[in-house]
Amino acid sequence: MMFIRRTKRLSKFINTASTSNGRYYSDSSRVTTIKEKIKQGPSLKDFITDSSEPVLTDRPFIPYLLENAKTKTKRKVFFDVYGCQMNLNDTDIVWSILKKEGFEKTSVEEDADIFLVMTCAIREGAETKIWHRLDHLRGFKRRAKDRSVKIGILGCMAERLKEKLIEKEKAVDVVAGPDSYRDLPRLLALTENGQPAVNVLLSLDETYADVVPVRLNEDSVSAFISIMRGCDNMCTYCIVPFTRGRERSRPVASIVDEARQLADQGVREVTLLGQNVNSYRDVSQSTEKIDTHMAKGFKTVYKTKKGGMRFADLLDKVSAVDPEMRIRFTAAHPKDFPEEVLQIISERPNICKLLHLPAQSGSSAVLERMRRGYTREAYLQLVEDVKRTIPGVGLSTDMICGFCGETEEEFQETLSLMELVDYNIAFLFPYSMREKTTAYRRYKDDVPDHIKKERHNRMLELYRRKCQILNDAEIGNTHLVLVEGTAKKSGNILGRNELYMRVVFEQTEVLTEDGGKRQVKPGDYVAVKIVGARSATLKGVPLYHTSLSEFYRDYQWGVRRAVN
Ligand code: SAH
Ligand code: SF4
Ligand code: F3S
Repeated sequence: MMFIRRTKRLSKFINTASTSNGRYYSDSSRVTTIKEKIKQGPSLKDFITDSSEPVLTDRPFIPYLLENAKTKTKRKVFFDVYGCQMNLNDTDIVWSILKKEGFEKTSVEEDADIFLVMTCAIREGAETKIWHRLDHLRGFKRRAKDRSVKIGILGCMAERLKEKLIEKEKAVDVVAGPDSYRDLPRLLALTENGQPAVNVLLSLDETYADVVPVRLNEDSVSAFISIMRGCDNMCTYCIVPFTRGRERSRPVASIVDEARQLADQGVREVTLLGQNVNSYRDVSQSTEKIDTHMAKGFKTVYKTKKGGMRFADLLDKVSAVDPEMRIRFTAAHPKDFPEEVLQIISERPNICKLLHLPAQSGSSAVLERMRRGYTREAYLQLVEDVKRTIPGVGLSTDMICGFCGETEEEFQETLSLMELVDYNIAFLFPYSMREKTTAYRRYKDDVPDHIKKERHNRMLELYRRKCQILNDAEIGNTHLVLVEGTAKKSGNILGRNELYMRVVFEQTEVLTEDGGKRQVKPGDYVAVKIVGARSATLKGVPLYHTSLSEFYRDYQWGVRRAVN
């Protein structure tokens, strides 16, 4: 049991609504008319109450669904995960919730009673992949005549399409948006009488802070921690604010606790996740610090929060949990990178010196249409500041080509930005129009598909060519590599350097600190001399076992890698 506060909700109370095909998405063990349901349903008061009085419940306060019996039998769940790291972490949250309720997990389709598909809606292509998977699952469900198989759609596509998903794909039994995972056991129980169940409520305060995620991949040396949910930025092309709701931060203490637990389990690398981590605020914590102003040339569409613990404070605390645990974070919006964040990154050896600065476009006019809040010049100035404050820093970006009205000249500005800034990693996308977004309402998706494709290829070609040059320059240098595992085919060791570049080397006996030798295993830090480079992988020779603190003590401070 736990105490949960009644909260105002961004409500889409569709669970009580019927659709054009007359099916009810709710507890329909009793046949009720819409009118009766409305009478039994929540009053206006339920929607606007922000009561300080706690409600004793073992699930969030959802007034319109009746308490229902739990699933009677133990059921095996097969997880399919699409989309970003946030979805990976959400799957661990879902698994934690279901495990507690007695569900089991399986990675064998034939053994599964429930398929849960964690979905993404960022581009049409992402959704197409999921529709293909659903085609397969529908066939599977039809063939499994002797037992009941349920299909649940979770995540961003569930939130975007809501009950339309069930109208379009009749095989789907459960639709659950990103803020309703606590309700999953009950939604699944509701489907036992053959009725579909939907909960796509978005919350103003759900952060799952008290749910300790159970990792699907328990052996992994790296893990994710969600530090916030939602996004208030409203970039005009992006569906995320609509699928994940308003921005909210998780309390510092629960994040630090989770980092500590992961360190105790032997995790060597955590990535702090949010749509815009540098606007993190735990307003329940007061600090003496004065709020810094946004750098020149950057603006925001929403009011910056005041007071409380900020991202720099959080980085300070999380990186102090274990000096041998690497800290990464993503995504960050270029508009709010205060000096303190850059400072703490430069000071802490275990905060990886790779900054994701998603530019999206190199043209100020396109950036304006995208509502990114900065110009090309302000972005380039930020890159200079970052490089000055964090010597040896690596940079990564996201870029979109073919956005509404993008001319060839504007696109060339994107290419020229990519020429100017040495990106170690770039995620490059052709624009995909999403309903509901400002761009959908205000602009025309007027760049033809073949031009988008052609521009995308030009970006990819430039990116690969530049990466090859950057990586070739690393030959002869020594990198600190965190070993992740072994390649299936070759048996080679796979790891990553500080800049998240994959480094491959042969398994062999490697020198230890006490002068002995031993083979490497996942979770080891190894000093590796780079001897070969491709655009996406470095090849190395292992020199000796080391630790994070040792390695950066030995090598010139600030350069982050030993240069021959
Ligand atoms: N919050 C993160 C991004 C999450 S989405 C950030 O701001 O960095 C990941 C990336 O998908 C975005 O950075 C953008 O480059 C891309 N993207 C978002 N919407 C898109 C769309 N409609 N078409 C193409 N790419 C898109
Ligand atoms: Fe989308 Fe912009 Fe928010 Fe990133 S910052 S999730 S691109 S709206
Ligand atoms: Fe996709 Fe949702 Fe992530 S739309 S990129 S899964 S936040």
